[in-house]
Amino acid sequence: MPLPYSEKVLEYFKHPKNVGKIENPDAKAKEGSPACGDMVTLYLKVDEKTKRITDIKFESFGCASNIATGSIITELAKGKTLEEAKKITWKDASEELGGLPPVKVHCSVLAVDVLKAAIEDYEERHGLVKEHVKTTKEIVLKRLKHVMNPIVGLDIVKTNIVNDVNVKEGSISVSMGIPRDNQFSKNIEEEVKERLKRLWDIKKVEVTFDEE
Ligand code: FES
Repeated sequence: MPLPYSEKVLEYFKHPKNVGKIENPDAKAKEGSPACGDMVTLYLKVDEKTKRITDIKFESFGCASNIATGSIITELAKGKTLEEAKKITWKDASEELGGLPPVKVHCSVLAVDVLKAAIEDYEERHGLVKEHVKTTKEIVLKRLKHVMNPIVGLDIVKTNIVNDVNVKEGSISVSMGIPRDNQFSKNIEEEVKERLKRLWDIKKVEVTFDEE
């Protein structure tokens, strides 16, 4: 049975706005939904003085709702300051689209999460993070929950392929329960490093694989 999509969702799905990649973005983020394994990447250009979003684009490997909400969210965020853009919620996107089927709510949450993560990336890169909390194992695991395990399309923590995490004097070591010659180990390693190296008090991130 087809899902009850509104006209607007279908319209945005067929003709999405702000789709694509920005070369040399000021910030970017990639998020996946553990519910369905879909991935979204979002790029930002930000005016350094006014902190306004001057350009924003997204690439989605998600479903129709995700493409439609990504499109709406980028339109809502363009021209806003980072502080204003932080206040955009999945409900704003869903309302703009005339509602989403309940099973598709997570698709709009994913679109909002990736916007928030890109803003966070900007703030981390530009030393704008206000509260500096000391990095702990829990903080690392929280970040790792956003790294997908492509083997099953769920995050690497939930699928138990993270064996251990150690945080000590500015370094993090993550030991993975898959062998280095696994076809996805390189992607996972890159993503883990990308997510953890931005932590303000971390200088070194090491990822080891089974039997290393
Ligand atoms: Fe996963 Fe929509 S079903 S993003």
